[in-house]
Amino acid sequence: MTITELEAPVLPFAARPQDSWRDLPARQQPDWPDPVALRRVLDELAGARPLVSAGQCDRLRNRLAAVARGEAFLLQGGDCAESFDGVSANQVRDKIQTLQQMALVLTQASSLPVVKLGRMAGQYAKPRSSGHETRDGVTLPSYRGDAVNGAAFTAADRTPDPERLRTAYLTSARTLELIRAASEGSSADLERVHAWNRDFVSGSPARDRYRGPVEDFAVTLRLLRAFGTRGDFGGAAEVFTSHEALLLDYEAALTRTDPFTGGRYALSAHQLWIGERTREPGGAHVEFAAGIRNPVAVKIGPTAEPDEVLELVRRIDPQGEPGRLTLIARMGADLVRDRLPRLVARLAAAGSAVAWVCDPMHGNTVGTPSGHKTRRLDDVMDEVAGFFEVHRALGTHPGGLHLELTGEEVTECVGGSQEVTLGDLPRRYETTCDPRLNRSQSLDLAFRTAELLGDGWR
Ligand code: PEP
Ligand code: CO
Repeated sequence: MTITELEAPVLPFAARPQDSWRDLPARQQPDWPDPVALRRVLDELAGARPLVSAGQCDRLRNRLAAVARGEAFLLQGGDCAESFDGVSANQVRDKIQTLQQMALVLTQASSLPVVKLGRMAGQYAKPRSSGHETRDGVTLPSYRGDAVNGAAFTAADRTPDPERLRTAYLTSARTLELIRAASEGSSADLERVHAWNRDFVSGSPARDRYRGPVEDFAVTLRLLRAFGTRGDFGGAAEVFTSHEALLLDYEAALTRTDPFTGGRYALSAHQLWIGERTREPGGAHVEFAAGIRNPVAVKIGPTAEPDEVLELVRRIDPQGEPGRLTLIARMGADLVRDRLPRLVARLAAAGSAVAWVCDPMHGNTVGTPSGHKTRRLDDVMDEVAGFFEVHRALGTHPGGLHLELTGEEVTECVGGSQEVTLGDLPRRYETTCDPRLNRSQSLDLAFRTAELLGDGWR
């Protein structure tokens, strides 16, 4: 059966009532104590300047269409949860530089342009497995991201406050400015990015292993110039933004109709994704995603069944438009080889145009004796390797990576060539949610993925 042969008719998105999602169950929404205050902030946001433009969203959709066709690779990364006070120029710059360095290594390995997409400038809302948290006999609402409440374990912090939605908007705007300055600044010079990679390799205990990609830069430059003839594709300056579309009231308030095409765009970010906990096909999040023109992604965990994924595709991408829908597999290193093949095979058989990318973070989180949540870089790499094996075996394109990372040398994940041990974790454990790869672990991951991408160095 192909997607177009599935019986139930789906309205093309232009004909969808814009608020159809409001009639459906929405999981993971905060319990705002003051609906009047919430309404006031949402009305204000509905009249505010959009954060990104419809044209930029269209451009990202075109880039992702190349990923879906096997002609490009996606690198998506940033914090699990951004925090309002984490927006310094240095932090944003370090994250952008890390993405630029990784992208260059991946281009060198694959000879493909790399689309850079930050989990940045809006990643402020978190789904939680439990609505409440109990410590020493005290029970408070769980932390749901800075857009909702504060991380500190006090009643004042944990009470959802709609003023935070306004701060989320303003902090996103400020972060976007910093991303623009960082990506279009001196690091847009690829030779400079390459020099940082050379410095990383020469200072790394893994220098012999990683030397390959940094040696033949002349070839890479020629390639990148060739991509450059198709706009800035593959260059260092083009960085898009994304976050989980969790808070539907916020996303709806920032949704606008494009006067030229009549299409509706959620202009809080270029790409929005739906998380593993909110992706049920009949739910409000999927309905919201189906009604916007942005490129959209959906997380797919190990319990997903082929029929369920096909139904998601039918709802969100009824026309089978390349670039419209990206599926982010987050299976866990021990399950990816078992669970992913039948999903990929089923969609391929149905003629689906989706891009597949690998989130090797969320299926590999473990607790430690010190009470920290961590991830082992070796497990993360094993899932990436499994993802590549599955696609190679099926003849489909392993389209990219979705990572939680930061440009700073935090100690949240263990392993890496500049090894972080379990004992190191308390030293610089700064995440408000899941553990992130630090800068050198992120580069390790890029160099090790490069080994999987190329059969040696051409
Ligand atoms: C996340 O990306 O931080 C997240 C919560 O992921 P998932 O929805 O895949 O669990
Ligand atoms: Co996370």
